Order: sequence, then structure tokens, then C-alpha cells
Amino acid sequence: MTKRDLQLDEHGRLRHFLTIEGLNRALLESIMDTAESFASVTEQTVKKVPLLRGKTIVNLFFETSTRTRTTFELAAKRLSADVLTVNIATSATTKGESLLDTIRNIEAMHVDMFVVRHAHSGAAHFIARHVAPHISVINAGDGRHAHPTQAMLDVFTIRKHKPDFGKLTVAIVGDVLHSRVARSEIHALRTLGVREIRVVGPRTLIPSDIETLGVRIHHDLDTGLREADVIIMLRLQRERMSGGFIPSAHEYYARFGLTAARLTLAKPDAMVMHPGPINRGVEMESRVADGSQSVILQQVTHGIAIRMAVMSMAMQHDSGERPA
Ligand code: CP
Repeated sequence: MTKRDLQLDEHGRLRHFLTIEGLNRALLESIMDTAESFASVTEQTVKKVPLLRGKTIVNLFFETSTRTRTTFELAAKRLSADVLTVNIATSATTKGESLLDTIRNIEAMHVDMFVVRHAHSGAAHFIARHVAPHISVINAGDGRHAHPTQAMLDVFTIRKHKPDFGKLTVAIVGDVLHSRVARSEIHALRTLGVREIRVVGPRTLIPSDIETLGVRIHHDLDTGLREADVIIMLRLQRERMSGGFIPSAHEYYARFGLTAARLTLAKPDAMVMHPGPINRGVEMESRVADGSQSVILQQVTHGIAIRMAVMSMAMQHDSGERPA
């Protein structure tokens, strides 16, 4: 079964959301359009719509998270779902329970959706292959593989400011090698027709085969930034580095840190983005992170509407189960 088959029901509607790879432009635009309609909900006095009333959503975060976990939880609550966030540190996982047994036991509580973050690439796909037909699985980040809702909130943020994707040059800067965000963003930006996608970073942090995804490699930040419309800075994923990928944080910042001076090489209205968490003084200076071109906190806000869109769309899938 292909990744596309696993994600979509027989009518081509979203069932699981595991990766951007294989999804078409119309579906990505439909997620953004649906998120647009939910953005106004988050600005109302009563920030709720009854779309998922009676549904139960379980957040399973086997890795740390601030933005993704809280925005998924808020999104579920704003859709009126019942939402549980399992604390993995105090769960039976610490007693040796397998991932599949954890899923089977929570499934026995008649839940409707799992939102999963896991350190292992492929964990969300694995769960999606084993759950009952009515259950949806949303990937909230798996290893180095994919972080599809992050990519969607990023392209949604870009579309708000620069809607003509075909005219854009986007520079993705930093630790591409260990980044699930970069991989999902490249797929989303390509599918949406972005003119030029650059990946910029030291040789040790750019996978040699990344050009097969249709990007241009730059190992010099100044040339990588020149005339860019959008700059996406990535975090140095030290928890995934087993060896000396960079000489030191100080040297990395000197060569690849985004400073106010370097930002002037991009277009004057270039957007500065970062999925978070930021390492200030390593990936970028505070003047840039907090400056007028930064949309970093807008990305966080948009995460709620995008996650509301993905969860509500997935809950409309046809499970193939017919009433007896
Ligand atoms: N962008 C992102 O995934 O942040 P968290 O790790 O805080 O969820």
C-alpha cells in the first residue's frame, strides 16, 4: 500500500495525515482554505464550533513539545472534541509496554483520533496501519521523517503575506539533515509551485541526495539569502547529532547565523520564519527573531487553525463501515 493510499479514503478524502508526500495541490489548498475559515473562530469571544462534539482525540507525545502539543490540544477543544493528553513519562510505556499495546489499550476506550509525536521515523505510519477503520492518525512529527502540520502552517503563513507561490524564492537554512520540518516543507512548497527552493547550510548538515527533491544547495549563507522572498531558519537538532557535525555553536553562528546585516541581502520585504524552538545567538540574533520581518509568532497562531482544519477534515473520512 502506498503512503497516499494509507492517507486517503476511497473518495480521495483525508483519513490520516502522515506526510505531505503524495498529496496533491488541491488538497493542500483545501486544508489552507478550511484553516482560513477557522482562523476567525479563534478571534471570537466564544472560541468554539461544535464540529467534533462527541469525538475523542488522544494526544500521544513520546517526545517533548511546546507548540505542537498545545496547539493540537487547543484546536481539538475549539472543535468541541473531548481531548486527552497522555503523559508518556508517567504512562505504562515506562514499564516496557510496546507502542502497539499502548495503542490497542487506548483504542479499547473507543477513541476517534490519535495525534502522535515519536522519535522514530515511521511511527505514525505504523500506528495508522494498525488502528480500526474509523480512527484517524495525525503525525505530529516522527524522527527525521515528517512534520506535515508544521509544513502546512508554514505555507499558510507564507500565503497570507505572499499568495503567489509561483513567484517565490524560499531559502531553508540550517540543519536540514536532521530536520523533519525541512523535508515536509520542501514537499509542500514544491507541490504548491514555488519557483525556487534553496537549502543552505554546512556540508555536514545538508544530505547529499536532497537535490532529488528539486532544491538548490548553497553552502554559503550570503549567496543562499540573495533576493530570497522567504527565509526559513531551522534549529540545530543537537539531540539527533551523534558526532561532530559542527565545530562549535559560536562558529556555526558566525557562518550560518541570521543577523540583521545578513538579512539585508534578501528582498527588503523578506519574511523570516522559524518552526521553534529558537536557539537565539546560534541560528539567529534576537534583533531578527523579534524584528519587523519576523512572522515566527504568527506561525504559532496559525498552527491552531491548520490543526483544526486537518482534524475536522480527517474526521469526515469514510471508514467503509456500514450500519448493519
Ligand atoms: N515546531 C515544533 O514542532 O515545536 P515543538 O517541538 O515545541 O512542538
